[in-house]
Amino acid sequence: MGIRFLLNGEAQDVDAAATTTLLDWLREEKRLTGTKEGCNEGDCGACTVMVTDADGPKALNACILFLPQLEGKAVRTVEGIAGPDGELHPVQQAMIEHHGSQCGFCTPGFIASMAVAHMNGRQDFDDQLAGNLCRCTGYAPIIRAAEAAADEPVPEWMLSDLETADLLALDGGGGAAFQPRSADELADWYEANPGATLIAGATDVGLWVTKQLRELEPVAFLNQCRDLAGIVSNDETITIGAMTSLTDLGAAIADLHPGFAELIRRYGSVQVRNAATIGGNIANGSPIGDGPPALIALGATLVLRKGADRREMPLEDFFVDYGKQDRQPGEFVEAVRLPRQADSLRCYKLSKRFDQDISALCGCFNITVADGQVATARIAFGGMAGIPKRAATVEAALIGQTWTEEVVRAALPGFAEDFTPMSDMRASASYRLQAAQNMLLRAFHDSQGTATRLLEVTP
Ligand SMILES: Cc1cc2nc3c(=O)[nH]c(=O)nc-3n(C[C@H](O)[C@H](O)[C@H](O)COP(=O)(O)OP(=O)(O)OC[C@H]3O[C@@H](n4cnc5c(N)ncnc54)[C@H](O)[C@@H]3O)c2cc1C
Ligand code: FES
Ligand code: FES
Repeated sequence: MGIRFLLNGEAQDVDAAATTTLLDWLREEKRLTGTKEGCNEGDCGACTVMVTDADGPKALNACILFLPQLEGKAVRTVEGIAGPDGELHPVQQAMIEHHGSQCGFCTPGFIASMAVAHMNGRQDFDDQLAGNLCRCTGYAPIIRAAEAAADEPVPEWMLSDLETADLLALDGGGGAAFQPRSADELADWYEANPGATLIAGATDVGLWVTKQLRELEPVAFLNQCRDLAGIVSNDETITIGAMTSLTDLGAAIADLHPGFAELIRRYGSVQVRNAATIGGNIANGSPIGDGPPALIALGATLVLRKGADRREMPLEDFFVDYGKQDRQPGEFVEAVRLPRQADSLRCYKLSKRFDQDISALCGCFNITVADGQVATARIAFGGMAGIPKRAATVEAALIGQTWTEEVVRAALPGFAEDFTPMSDMRASASYRLQAAQNMLLRAFHDSQGTATRLLEVTP
């Protein structure tokens, strides 16, 4: 199938297998070897490239990005970040001046992330560069370089992608890798091809190819279904399309539920959040995904679609058992819907590393108090069972009670009735149970205005 996109300003018309990754194609077909392969699973950022579409430039990991996901977009690799006559980009110049590179293996990926941050005017460099790992230089000189370049103007050659991106739309699609243009097209095709693999952001599916060497065809790429992306709100509900990226969800939800937005900031890295979708995060059925606990605590419902038929269910009912979801062949996630409500959501993620790490457990607490008494309580956890799950016993022990530390402590044994967590490389069962209890205590103290975030403790 033909895929059209810009590479460093030049139009490409590519005929390649649907699950060819951008990284392999760059290095093996184009011999553009500046973009490095470190982990080949989205963790290290050595393969970071800039991808521009109508929404502007984004940093993405080329190792888990399939070529059809680039259709109609503009890709810029480290070879295209310097000017046509060899002039260095301000971030490249600053990396030299601030000694930001030693062995240099990570450097092209850092340069790509820094160039995107520079173009987007982002100066929260700890977040912007959290998806790029460096083994030898250390981060201080790299951050100093990013800061030094921040006020330099964006070079003219970097602006051309903004003008041309998204103008290359293909007609049709077809062949093995189907690229529907709308939810309706997807619904028809998937109903007729229920054995196909759907590919949204590919932050899970990418690894099936790069790590498990799986053959996936037939596949359908959802990135051209624009009507599946985005958020629609009215007075009662907020409907989040399945193809909404975690980056866009985090930005949209920040004012309504800041605790959810803060949780999303800890989700993977900038590169992962730019690709990953909320639909994929739900549909993969992972017991340790970060989206479902927060959404379940908020009382979300899931909209599933098969052909012309839709059904809506409480999100927690979708997760039946480990590896089993209530989804029929040919049925896909169309949207997730939240009831509008005053914010009382608190989300806590525990992982071994602050950034770019999967949760050992993730607890979300949506507890409302009226006249000193617990009026409603929705508490949901990831990492405590084979599915994302509510703490029904604990909720029942709180509802109708006075919201005091004593009552909260009396509810803590309920966690052992609600959950029988497992021990694995991330945490032991007893740690998980203890940590879940501590999270409820933390939610109580947070509600009393006590500062509980470790990052906020000052000497
Ligand atoms: C480096 C790295 C870090 C990560 N960190 C985190 C983290 O901190 N927290 C976390 O929760 N996850 C994390 N993940 C996991 C991953 O990002 C998420 O599960 C992600 O949301 C999946 O979304 P996607 O769009 O990439 O899905 P894809 O990989 O495209 O698809 C995932 C699954 O869902 C199916 N699917 C996708 N969309 C639909 C749909 N609309 N309807 C039906 N089925 C569909 C696919 O067929 C596939 O089975 C990380 C992944 C990587 C590689
Ligand atoms: S090679 Fe490590 S993120 Fe792509
Ligand atoms: S300079 Fe060697 S890994 Fe960063």
